[in-house]
Amino acid sequence: MNIKKYRFGEPFCTDSTVIDLPIEKESPDYISLKEDNLFISMSLNDSDAIYGLGEQMGGINKRGRKYRSFCSDDPCHTEEKEALYGAHNFFIISGETTVGYFIDFPGTVHYDMGFTVEDEITISLEGKDADFYVINGENELEVVKNFRELIGKSYMPPMWAFGYQQSRWSYANKEQVDAVVDGYEKADIPLDSVILDIDYMDHYKDFTIDDKAFPNFESYVAELKKKGIRLIPIIDAGVRCEDGFDVYEEGVKNNYFCKDRNGDDFKAAVWPGICCFPDYLKADTRKWFGDKFHTLTDKGIEGFWIDMNEPALFFSMEGFKKAVDFVKQYNGEDLDCWDFFEYRDQFSKLSNSIDDYKNMHHLDGKYSHYDVHNLYGYMMTRGVGECLPKDTLLFSRASCIGSHRYGGIWTGDNTSWWSHILLNLRMLPSLNMCGYIYTGADCGGFNGNASRELVIRWMQLSVFTPLFRNHSAIGTRNQEAYAFSNNKEFKDVIEVRYRLIPYLYDLAKKCAENNEMMFKPLAFEYKDALSKETDDQVLLGDEAMITPVYEQNKSGRTVYLPEEMTFYKLSGNKVVHKEKLEKGVHFVNVALNEVPLFVRKGKKIPLCNTGKNVDNLDTTIVEYLEG
Ligand code: GLC
Repeated sequence: MNIKKYRFGEPFCTDSTVIDLPIEKESPDYISLKEDNLFISMSLNDSDAIYGLGEQMGGINKRGRKYRSFCSDDPCHTEEKEALYGAHNFFIISGETTVGYFIDFPGTVHYDMGFTVEDEITISLEGKDADFYVINGENELEVVKNFRELIGKSYMPPMWAFGYQQSRWSYANKEQVDAVVDGYEKADIPLDSVILDIDYMDHYKDFTIDDKAFPNFESYVAELKKKGIRLIPIIDAGVRCEDGFDVYEEGVKNNYFCKDRNGDDFKAAVWPGICCFPDYLKADTRKWFGDKFHTLTDKGIEGFWIDMNEPALFFSMEGFKKAVDFVKQYNGEDLDCWDFFEYRDQFSKLSNSIDDYKNMHHLDGKYSHYDVHNLYGYMMTRGVGECLPKDTLLFSRASCIGSHRYGGIWTGDNTSWWSHILLNLRMLPSLNMCGYIYTGADCGGFNGNASRELVIRWMQLSVFTPLFRNHSAIGTRNQEAYAFSNNKEFKDVIEVRYRLIPYLYDLAKKCAENNEMMFKPLAFEYKDALSKETDDQVLLGDEAMITPVYEQNKSGRTVYLPEEMTFYKLSGNKVVHKEKLEKGVHFVNVALNEVPLFVRKGKKIPLCNTGKNVDNLDTTIVEYLEG
């Protein structure tokens, strides 16, 4: 294994890696200690590209921007954002030489990747205790493979999890879920799962079911299962503080919750109101919380999504009181603009505040949450993943390298913006590099109202991502495939997914087992200048290239072919177009009911016939798309 490990101080054991390497005696000279913080300074050559960092904004090449590793509950993914829900401290600098770096550190890491000074990387850690790995390899793919070997095999869900999932915040009762199932049935569009968002619970309390909304939950789960449809409930990180609520009472009694700086259970509000937060960094808490999922698996549930585990904190009582006191003190005053802004921001600053993260403590008060923040979602995923029966679907919002062994991730609260189709595409290789294979974005966009065209174009990408889930926020326009006019076009696109399932599932499995990437930047395979700059197309396995249309009112798009390929368009159960295209730039037409796919020379993609859902899918291969 071509990896060198360096240790600084006494790092917190994150269990992000699975191989214990010897620690090098001398550390690289580009790492130094500045005022108790580790600081990395490297220079970049003109031709260097930077890849990795997992769930982040920006292009496939990460050069020229700032990033921050700090799992963030931020529902507005605009261009300048530096941190989303994941903390993935692995990147590759690729130019004349190709080297990977992994910073195993649970706190905040600030990256300036040639933003302030074009040819300089500066990385600062908020702390002095970390393991630092330098990963070598012949090329990018080998560096990724070596790194992934270090961090252990990626999670793989059962095959049905590759079916199409319909979600919305929220289908709040049985009637609404039935309407979704009916909608798909009537439109004859395949469907594998319906997601239950927070409203299925009693007052948003974990492991409860509102039995007025879902009477006889267990038999309902069984009834849907007979049709090949599964319900996937949400579980949130925080536990409602309510006397008589068994989960809360057990947590208090057994010391399972995080503490505040006075040693009391730390409390802050999320959906259910004031909550306590299981200390997932403790093994016994993980086991306790993970075992709680059996209340739902016992009722026939086979998949879960876990959320708000950065953790998201709406407000703490102390924070709220401070804001109220501040506001009271200025009431009736003649404020200047700056005072007014401060006054106005008091309440918006309450959520996910650093003060609250600093007050929250782990491992019986030993560690301030802020210092180990990025482990929270990871350790929740770990606890749940370790306790769930084999072949249960699990995906999380917050993540940190290590959690890839226990569950997948979705990329959080995006928006129904065209640019977010592209963002979705660009994140795929970076996430694969960091170990996340079962992943996808909210197809159609979570926030905002989606147009018919946007949803269908987005689906033309999502048919290739392991997690294919249409999800949208409360109050937004309905974006189920049957909700739009001429839903036959949605059917044509979603049906293509089912034809590809044997291929996609095998590919994902192979990538998880062999530490390979399912989605690769063109630059990882082709060394020409244009491939290096192409970041609106990615390679799928070793066989193909995907090129979604991500702009409005377009009949197609321009694609770059680094070599001759065969261009296919699939629609429903048919291959409607096949054309050999030369190396070079082409404009290709893609109708709304078609899925474009380029097959590489000498490669082939197997297809089965489409089906209603994975349980009812005949996975016999009926034809090949040959390149
Ligand atoms: C968070 C999740 C979103 C979910 C909502 C309500 O915003 O990211 O997917 O719908 O909470 O549970």
